Amino acid sequence: MKKILGEIKSCILHIFEPTGPTNMTKPKSDKGVYTAPGNQEKYALLERKNQEALLGGGEPRIEIQHKKGKLTARERLHLLLDEGSFQEIGKFVTHRCKDFGLENQHYLGDGVVTGYGSINGRLVYVFSQDFTVFGGSLSETHAEKIVKIMDLAIKNGAPVIGLNDSGGARIQEGVVSLGGYADIFYRNTLASGVIPQISAIMGPCAGGAVYSPAITDFVLMVEQTSYMFVTGPNVVKTVTHEEVTSEELGGASTHSTKSGVTQFSCINEIECIKNIKQLLTYMPANCEEQAPYYQYSTTGDESRAVLDDLIPENPNQPYDMRDVIFGVVDDSSFLEVHQHFAENIVVGFALLAGRSIGIVGNQPASLAGVLDINASTKAARFVRFCDSFNIPLLVFEDVPGFLPGTDQEWNGIITHGAKLLYAFCEATVPRVTVITRKAYGGAYDVMNSKHIGADMNYAWPTAEIAVMGAKGAAEIIFKREIAAAKDPEAALAAKVDDYTAKFANPYRAAHRGFIDEVIQPRDTRSKLITAFKMLKNKVDKIPRKKHGNIPL
Ligand code: HXC
Repeated sequence: MKKILGEIKSCILHIFEPTGPTNMTKPKSDKGVYTAPGNQEKYALLERKNQEALLGGGEPRIEIQHKKGKLTARERLHLLLDEGSFQEIGKFVTHRCKDFGLENQHYLGDGVVTGYGSINGRLVYVFSQDFTVFGGSLSETHAEKIVKIMDLAIKNGAPVIGLNDSGGARIQEGVVSLGGYADIFYRNTLASGVIPQISAIMGPCAGGAVYSPAITDFVLMVEQTSYMFVTGPNVVKTVTHEEVTSEELGGASTHSTKSGVTQFSCINEIECIKNIKQLLTYMPANCEEQAPYYQYSTTGDESRAVLDDLIPENPNQPYDMRDVIFGVVDDSSFLEVHQHFAENIVVGFALLAGRSIGIVGNQPASLAGVLDINASTKAARFVRFCDSFNIPLLVFEDVPGFLPGTDQEWNGIITHGAKLLYAFCEATVPRVTVITRKAYGGAYDVMNSKHIGADMNYAWPTAEIAVMGAKGAAEIIFKREIAAAKDPEAALAAKVDDYTAKFANPYRAAHRGFIDEVIQPRDTRSKLITAFKMLKNKVDKIPRKKHGNIPL
């Protein structure tokens, strides 16, 4: 972290340098009569206040923050926003608390820096909690500042980015602070699906405070210096007698692998900020805008021969669906989301001929690409984000079905699997599917099939679209015949061959029109570019309703 801080030292130093004239003329007093301060003095007072606000809780606390390997609220904003674009709102706000000695402690800004600026030239609203002021804790006025920029963001249709680093509710304020949190949760919910909301956790985030990030679209965490939990290790020990550290309980690695609370676990704050900036490049500013489109130049040859060699001859052998994705999308444009959670499904953003798209792909390299509870919820949330913000969806399918077992059934695979089904059914953005290999059973229906509203469905010649794998099918439907055979093994093999010839291919589905075209892998990119271009002006509507009732 020392090295990282060194790297950015030069760019952050000027944040604390004086920015204007500080020399002031004293009020002239003639014969002891008071003279109002002159304009120069008023200007100087403003400068002094500005300097005071820039220092937050003061230099000693800034030093402590740096020693923990953390940047300050302003340093973070400086790295996040385009140079010189930040316009601060509420710099001189102070708290109103008169209890527990707080009446004698005021810091300009009250522990959160709020305002607006631009990232790659596009408007964003930001808040950045300042741990150097009362541990970044949330007071009534701190909350009001956040609420103010959220309201502006909703009215003006631009994303809100929150940089969280806070000890939670300002303990001295009691219920007033809790009310402030609720005001924020309410706006997070109203803003959901209207503007993108991104939360970076760069320090503590505990208690009910976790629910604001949880409602937002993307949560990023910094390894080792951030944690999120509803109750901390001490309470856990008292209630459940478990001994656990903050990092184990709610650190970035826990939430990016076990709980799925965070979509990005970042090695440091700089990577975290880099990820926020990249994420934004795929999103429109609000739900009324189209997904971004970037200038794209091509030689005209979009065929990708590398795709022909990806599917193993043996249908039970794994391959990495990311290789299919890399082979299809624009070079280096894929940003994987939720990379280490439910690895049996891959989701992320990419560009296809300059057009922003969301990708969902079963991952044969993990659990054979089976759909389980975590994979279903991960993909469902991603599909809903893309649909909310007009980002077309591309699905790569190789799925042997839903994961069997008591663990899955008792934990509600039925309800959770239905989320993914519901999310696809409801999506009105352009939707295209490519079946690369297996499309078995209910999972065939769920994974953006024609029947639930996909616009274009392609299959590779290696596709197997059936109720189940050939062996399982043969064992069920020819059970008696196989048992009665002289050589049951040979009988089974013959039936498997028979079933394979009939169903383990894409042609039955193509005959029915469930597949629009069977394509060579190498032609996939050009087919998809053309299909998404054709679907550019798609208008689709779901029946008028207050809101649906997704199986939560
Ligand atoms: C007021 C707080 C504060 C808080 C920290 N500080 N948390 N002030 N309210 N919630 C102050 C400290 O008094 C200290 O002030 C400064 O911030 C830095 O805190 P330290 O403890 O010195 O820092 P550190 O050792 O890094 O520990 C950070 C911490 C710890 C783990 C966050 O401060 C802590 O446990 N704080 C209390 C957390 C908490 O229980 N919050 C309420 C959660 S319930 P000085 O003046 O010494 O610098 C909640 C409900 C929300 O938030 C519900 C919403 C619906």
